[in-house]
Amino acid sequence: MRIDIISVLPELMESPFQASILKRAVEKGLAEVHFHALREYGIGKYRKLDDEPYGGGAGMVMMVEPLDQCISELTSQREYDEIIYLTPEGETLNQKIANTLSIRNNLMLICGHYKGIDQRVRDLHVTREISIGDFVLTGGELAACVLADSVIRLLPGVLNDEQSALTDSFQDGLLSPPIYTRPEEYKGLRVPEVLLSGNFKKIEEWRHDEAVRITTERRPDLLK
Ligand code: ADE
Repeated sequence: MRIDIISVLPELMESPFQASILKRAVEKGLAEVHFHALREYGIGKYRKLDDEPYGGGAGMVMMVEPLDQCISELTSQREYDEIIYLTPEGETLNQKIANTLSIRNNLMLICGHYKGIDQRVRDLHVTREISIGDFVLTGGELAACVLADSVIRLLPGVLNDEQSALTDSFQDGLLSPPIYTRPEEYKGLRVPEVLLSGNFKKIEEWRHDEAVRITTERRPDLLK
């Protein structure tokens, strides 16, 4: 999979891909992540990227030309399965969306700043708009990292069996059950007997029941 990320602040996104699982995915060639500094497409001597909104109002708007030029340069080089604009106005990211995106080859992510981007960028290029939750970030960069992380970890070969994505929260529509490791007792708190029993059928039943219990308590909406 190839992910191209367009941003005013690409340096903000470097470290998540330079550590641990994402780093290994990139090193193994399972994921390619390319950053594109929008400033290089800015207008005039000062490489201007934003301007005041028509009709007035607070905040600046990212101009159409720099984004259009950057996006067009990329789309002339390869076909993109999705051109995604990260915005609070988008559909809320969930595991189903991550699963769907993880079987695509080329994704482009556009990070907005200020009040957002000129509507014509969306009309011309954007195929999908995604939000990472009902709150507003200073820009789309951290949202792009969240989206890329959720997708890259699902690519075949990125996680090993022990880290398998198949047992994640949400993959079966349920939150994960409690988990324990050594010691068997800590400050009076004991690991549930069933997990020490070696009876794998019983353990699976307990895990499922706990997952249903926790999901019912915390996220009953997921059970619908
Ligand atoms: N940009 C600013 N806030 C955002 C959010 N919640 N999700 C995605 N992109 C954003």
